[in-house]
Amino acid sequence: MTTPTETRRSLPPLDLHNVQGDILIGLPKKVETCLFFGITRVGDFRSQLIRLLPLLTTTAQVIEDQQKIARYKGGMPQKGHLLELSGVNLAFSQKGLEQMGIGKDANDRIGDAPFEAGMFNDTKLNDDKALWEPAFKEDIHGLIIITGDCQARVDAKLKEVEEILDRTIHRVKVINGKVRPGGQGGHEHFGYLDGVSQPAVLGVDQNLHRGQETVRQGIILLGREGDSVAEDNGVDRRPSWSHDGSFLCFRYLFQNVLEFDKFVKDNNPPEAADDLFGAQLVGRWKSGAPIDVTPLQDDKQLGNDPSRNDVFRYDPFSQNRCPYIAHTRKTNPRSDLSSTEKRRIIRRGIPFGPEVTEEEKKAKETIEERGLLFVAYQSNIANGFQFIQSSWANQPGFPFLFTPDKPKPGFTALTDPDFTPDKGPGFDAIIGQAGKEDRVIDIQGGSDNAGKFTLPQQWVVPKGGEYFFSPSISALKETF
Ligand code: HEM
Repeated sequence: MTTPTETRRSLPPLDLHNVQGDILIGLPKKVETCLFFGITRVGDFRSQLIRLLPLLTTTAQVIEDQQKIARYKGGMPQKGHLLELSGVNLAFSQKGLEQMGIGKDANDRIGDAPFEAGMFNDTKLNDDKALWEPAFKEDIHGLIIITGDCQARVDAKLKEVEEILDRTIHRVKVINGKVRPGGQGGHEHFGYLDGVSQPAVLGVDQNLHRGQETVRQGIILLGREGDSVAEDNGVDRRPSWSHDGSFLCFRYLFQNVLEFDKFVKDNNPPEAADDLFGAQLVGRWKSGAPIDVTPLQDDKQLGNDPSRNDVFRYDPFSQNRCPYIAHTRKTNPRSDLSSTEKRRIIRRGIPFGPEVTEEEKKAKETIEERGLLFVAYQSNIANGFQFIQSSWANQPGFPFLFTPDKPKPGFTALTDPDFTPDKGPGFDAIIGQAGKEDRVIDIQGGSDNAGKFTLPQQWVVPKGGEYFFSPSISALKETF
């Protein structure tokens, strides 16, 4: 058994061969399969794990893959030759750790309350758990993420994984995600370019842009500099087996695309760009360009330019360009607050489900299941995903409460006499869980459609999820 490090020692340099590949850089993915499993025979599972390790993709391997992709795109490939890529990562829930007897002693606990309680018991998220799929109410011990350039390769990898773990695990649920086809590649189902903004991890990301937000490694990896639990008064509260691992929050998010589109169309100001209202809800145009930076709907060049599309700052005293309730502003308020480093997460989502069908277009309602397999990594769930969802996205009062005598962000241009301190600008119209509250948002200033809107329904509906821990390779070898 390993114990928490008594005092904080100087850390060895980060070994990129020791960190799983999805965390810091991201597995190569056009398609992805998520295998949620229960451990059936613990002893056999643990002895088979050693055979699974060579299949796991490390950060160092992902960097090599990226170089291959760059060479491929640079024109090196032979005609007819496809770049064959795949990746495998493994993570465990608290129930999985318990099943294996890891971290059960008081001084060996991983030290993260939401993880230990599990997402189903996380009332702060305000989910309607009646809508959760039965599989996510069962005991899920682990998650294996398999990615690749095509479904056939991912299926073959899944078969290989399941053969190694034969009869030691059982499937609880398998979900397939895929990048949307053609020109929608990289866009989530509402049509907005996703994966644009991401904090650069210091000492890892080589393509840091001037002005881009950064994080110290410990904001994402346990035990590294910036992990507040590992820096607690000179004592490292993290057990050493948890070092260089990361918490993985998985959310199974369904999207009601036709209903969203209708609301956006019905409420768009008549003379404006036809997607202004949608862009106000998201914070970016479909091209990926931030509405805070450009009034142009189709600036694809800006949308695709990482040196410009992720380096802007909001004017904290104004929502003339980007409403306070915009999804991107709610989930990353940037200069609205003085420091947000500990709230930053690494996002690795992928869409699931088909494109909108002709039948749905005729019926004018969502029939098929589609949405986002949302994944976020961080070293502290209460500081990261949980805080973003519960204290920012779900809170109508954020950013800041209305204080007439003491103007603060969230105050300027709020001319509506009904606007009361407890209400604030409203919740995040994309992911905010209003629960039984009215779904009200307040967009002020800047556009012809300024005012209050009551949203008729939620367009993103959580139907499951779990908190996992994605260990380092050395921990998987020595402790698991
Ligand atoms: C950014 C869509 C769920 C946190 C974005 C962007 C889009 C988007 C289009 C802008 C592109 C980008 O910066 O990458 C969605 C959709 C969701 C969803 C459709 C659900 C179906 C979530 C959840 C969270 C979240 C559950 C966390 C609680 C963020 C963050 C950003 C972001 C932190 C970056 C904002 C910035 O740095 O400017 N999302 N998202 N998203 N989203 Fe979401």
